[in-house]
Amino acid sequence: MKKTYLLCLCSVAVIWSEISLSEPVTNIAPAPNGIEFPVGYKKWQVISLSHRTDKDSVRVILGNPIAIEAARSGKTNPWPDGAILAKTAWNQRIDENWPAAVVPGEFWQVEFMIKDSKKYAATKDWGFARWRGKELKPWGEDASFEQGCVACHTPVANRDYVFTSPVFFDTEKK
Ligand code: HEC
Repeated sequence: MKKTYLLCLCSVAVIWSEISLSEPVTNIAPAPNGIEFPVGYKKWQVISLSHRTDKDSVRVILGNPIAIEAARSGKTNPWPDGAILAKTAWNQRIDENWPAAVVPGEFWQVEFMIKDSKKYAATKDWGFARWRGKELKPWGEDASFEQGCVACHTPVANRDYVFTSPVFFDTEKK
């Protein structure tokens, strides 16, 4: 009896440690509209990058596996449900060893667009959320912050509200 109990406890511990390894538990607060921080986004692949001269920052746009599959096969208008786009921004810095190079400085923010045509129908089928600074503070005073996101993304409504065009690597077809 004791042995079974111990065995049980051990397997629970093993399963638990496996879960925690794949999805580290975080204490990052959700965005004011209830969207949880997409833990694990750093493992996603690159969709494109940008240098915003109006905001003096450099950005990397990443996609989760569903977004990457859509990007590589050109099925991005509309993007499929389940696709998540992340945009990570750093303040720009001049490379101390090569002044002509604009490179990432301090981490500034990460923001997300989560495609779900049912859940986020009220905001053009995308869930918007942003976390600012190294401490990843949820951005926005209340849930209405997302209206600002939608408004500025509206000029590209005919591209499913997404500015970024996926970049292709060497042998990949466009
Ligand atoms: C003032 C205009 C403006 C506002 C407000 C804005 N965005 Fe954007 N967003 C842009 C532009 C321009 C780009 C593409 C260029 C870049 O920054 O890389 C972009 C790109 C993005 C991307 C990458 C996918 C894409 O569309 O290219 C995400 C994700 C994103 N924004 C999320 C958000 C979220 C979340 C909010 C609200 C918290 C928001 N944005 C508010 C202008 C805006």
